[in-house]
Amino acid sequence: MKAEDRLKHLEKLEKEALIGGGEERIKAQHDKGKLTARERINMLLDEGTFRETDKFVTHRCTDFSLEKSKVLGDGIVTGYGRINGRTVCIYAEDFTVFGGSLSLAYAEKIVKLQDLSMKMGCPIIGLKDSGGARIQEGVDSLAGYTYVFLRNVLSSGVVPQISAIMGPCAGGAVYSPAMTDFVIMVAGSYMFLTGPDVVKAATHEDVTYEELGGAMVHNEKSGVAHFAVDSELECIELTKKLLSYLPQNNLEDSPLVEPTDDPNRMDKELDSIVPENPNKPYDMLEVIKRIVDNGDFLEVHKHYAPNLIVGFARFNGRAVGIVANQPAVLAGVLGRNSGMKGARFVRFCDCFNIPIVTFVDVPGFLPGTAQEWGGVIKNGAKLLYAFCESTVPRVTVITRKAYGGAYCVMSSKHTRADVNFAWPSAEIAVMGPDGAVKVLYRKQLKEAKDPKALEKQLIDEYTEKFANPFVTASKGYIDAVIRPSETRPRIIEALEMTENKRDVNPPKKHGNIPL
Ligand code: HXC
Repeated sequence: MKAEDRLKHLEKLEKEALIGGGEERIKAQHDKGKLTARERINMLLDEGTFRETDKFVTHRCTDFSLEKSKVLGDGIVTGYGRINGRTVCIYAEDFTVFGGSLSLAYAEKIVKLQDLSMKMGCPIIGLKDSGGARIQEGVDSLAGYTYVFLRNVLSSGVVPQISAIMGPCAGGAVYSPAMTDFVIMVAGSYMFLTGPDVVKAATHEDVTYEELGGAMVHNEKSGVAHFAVDSELECIELTKKLLSYLPQNNLEDSPLVEPTDDPNRMDKELDSIVPENPNKPYDMLEVIKRIVDNGDFLEVHKHYAPNLIVGFARFNGRAVGIVANQPAVLAGVLGRNSGMKGARFVRFCDCFNIPIVTFVDVPGFLPGTAQEWGGVIKNGAKLLYAFCESTVPRVTVITRKAYGGAYCVMSSKHTRADVNFAWPSAEIAVMGPDGAVKVLYRKQLKEAKDPKALEKQLIDEYTEKFANPFVTASKGYIDAVIRPSETRPRIIEALEMTENKRDVNPPKKHGNIPL
């Protein structure tokens, strides 16, 4: 081929690659209210920064006459570019080609990108829209998936991995996102291992895709997804925002943002935010928003186990992870699901050098057979384990209750937290006054002439003695009792003090977190 012809051929191939499964299928995709793989990438990346890789790769399958239907790129668009000036690797599954299903060649494109992201130390983002393993490729597609899974695991804790589910995510397609750090699901998308037909045959249950594995199912019930969004555009904006809190890799810190909120800002309202009655709820989200920079808090896993809040915010321009009990939901108790949720978040922050600020108002663990049989012990232990093994800077504020095992779990001083504060409203004890009095004075109460009056007197005495932060402060288990209004400056000062923190765990292959 002459040089001139080669250039013409290149042009022809480039045009061909752009149309994926063809105009008709692109139209069908648009008619469903969905964007194409390339449109999604272009919306997410800074304009003109996308550099595509492996554009001309095709599958190598010859079964089912598949050699007659080769499409350049083979149903996946891969490459790198920039988001707000920072490099990312990105791939988008193209539903217009074999329903976005994965062949070995397709998997190899992802694998190459995963290796690149690890070597270059940049986040990797997958935009998912796929019918799973390409059935015609048989075991080759299973091998392909597994190569991708292996890289998901090897990349874990090295570079942030984000998955956006923008259409079907079926069969083998689900395991890769499940192993990434964050899963965002767009309304109308769904994730399942076995489809409604298989479910019906096996269990006689009649379910739609949405009921089986829609965005809210995985946000509320299974906890597989961390965010639910209404549209692809919202998904793109959220991905950008999420990345803004994250470092590029495990050897870097999150980017500093020019602060626009006074680090010395006091908030008088906080002095009266905790109700006098210890059994009355208040909204911990409001506490968080009053304290962090500009009230800006990106809540993660909002719909799952809302009795525990996790998410990202900034203090004087520096990104932190926030973990907080939510007294407005189930009185803020720790349960099976909140243990899992908190542990995963704490471990993410620890992987990526993000300091953790914890707000504590926890009366204990959720009681009941559903919890005990459902493994509240091992799931609560996950959170305890995660805090204990973490070596990032940690600041803790006890706003009200810190009872029993839950006190130990919630980034207590004893778990190696660096700076532990308590508000004057803090109540720190083995258990609440009511329960403690019933156990300690069972006999006396039984024999008393007026058990009600005695119980009240004993509760008052116990409350006076233990339900305050001063006993704990006298033992050095908290560093300071602070005024609620000064919480923001005190946290900022503590985070500045911990800026160069160095801490290590004993050398080992890896620990054995109670999974
Ligand atoms: C090959 C596939 C495919 C697949 C879809 N297509 N999934 N081709 N392998 N896995 C093709 C369809 O044949 C169709 O081609 C085109 O993609 C669009 O699919 P539709 O069914 O028309 O689209 P829609 O109605 O939107 O339904 C989407 C869907 C459905 C729900 C994803 O296609 C579906 O159920 N697919 C199979 C899902 C599944 O069971 N996957 C598991 C595979 S096994 P034409 O040419 O007709 O338009 C697996 C195990 C791996 O993944 C385990 C690894 C650990």
